[in-house]
Amino acid sequence: MIQFVQDTDRNLLEEALRFAQQQVRHVIEQHPDFYPMYTRDGRWRHDGETWADWCTGFFPGMMWIFRRRADEGSAEARYWQEQAIRYTQPIEQRKTDKQSQDLGFLFFSTYYRWYRLTGEAKLKEVLVEAGRTLAGRYREAGQYLSSFVSDDSLFIDLMMNVGLIFFAANETGDKRLREIAVRHCLTTRRTLVRGDGSTAHEGIFDIETGEFIRQSTQQGYRGDSCWSRGLAWAMYGFATCHEYSRDTRLLATAEACADYFLRHTNADGIPPWDFLAPASRRNLLDTSAAAIAASALLRVGRLLTDPVKGHLYSASALMILRMLCEKHLGKKDKKWEGILKGGVYHVHKELGVDESVIWGEYFFVEALDQALRQL
Ligand code: GLY
Repeated sequence: MIQFVQDTDRNLLEEALRFAQQQVRHVIEQHPDFYPMYTRDGRWRHDGETWADWCTGFFPGMMWIFRRRADEGSAEARYWQEQAIRYTQPIEQRKTDKQSQDLGFLFFSTYYRWYRLTGEAKLKEVLVEAGRTLAGRYREAGQYLSSFVSDDSLFIDLMMNVGLIFFAANETGDKRLREIAVRHCLTTRRTLVRGDGSTAHEGIFDIETGEFIRQSTQQGYRGDSCWSRGLAWAMYGFATCHEYSRDTRLLATAEACADYFLRHTNADGIPPWDFLAPASRRNLLDTSAAAIAASALLRVGRLLTDPVKGHLYSASALMILRMLCEKHLGKKDKKWEGILKGGVYHVHKELGVDESVIWGEYFFVEALDQALRQL
């Protein structure tokens, strides 16, 4: 197999990781115990609306990645572990949060990484309880986990959370949990993923009959457009759920979404905020969607049985990372507190537009780490 990777790539990626560590340390020191979400003019602290409380895991999540990469027994490993635990423990109480659709985002980035590192049973119990809580959102009529906005609403983002229910099912042998998770994935596949691999952000159902009514959106341009971050969540989420369930339909869906991404993203791999954005907003990129997509492409690429296609995915992921490192780091702007510039949270609400966003930082760091481990 042709090897496209050069030493310059390794250096570029390692340098970006060092910069990421420096920025995270800066926030810990300047704003102790503060959980960043999105910047305003490059600063994390402001009084902007959160819209939903789904992001506190990403900051400690990066610390767990730095911890695992550090040499065992080193001062660096001790530092990152101490900080990661300090920022992770306050999240435990969310394991019973029935209002949240986002327990996967919160717990995969934190307790799951902690559990993978130490194997402590009490950490697994936290994850199982969070998975059971999330399963409580399941609606038999319609067969989906409802979004936080209303009972008749299903979001594509939920594909990033449902893995936690598979985790709980696998650890406990609870067949009902597994059934809920599989049904949610299949409903999402049927109603939000289109024949060309593009995705809708939201689906609206009749809550009495469970009948699917229409595609809609909260953060994308229109109900019939393709919000790029939603597509990236689908690539990543369907791949994760395939890993837990071994259901090949879910991998095929992740692949269809990834193919749509590769066909429609800009030439340098960084997508517009919405693939069907009107001309006036077409230049607005979302680097967070690029970072999630890079991580997802590495993941899907590893799962595919066709090595040539797998190679295409990992080479594409590497190209995206290279572009993020070369063109979008906050490095040159000394006052910028984030790692990646050019992320988008919510265009319509004007929250975090062309700013750093904490999930973009987390998935960028995760993708850098994965790519470096694969090189
Ligand atoms: N709530 C997930 C997102 O904004 O992408």
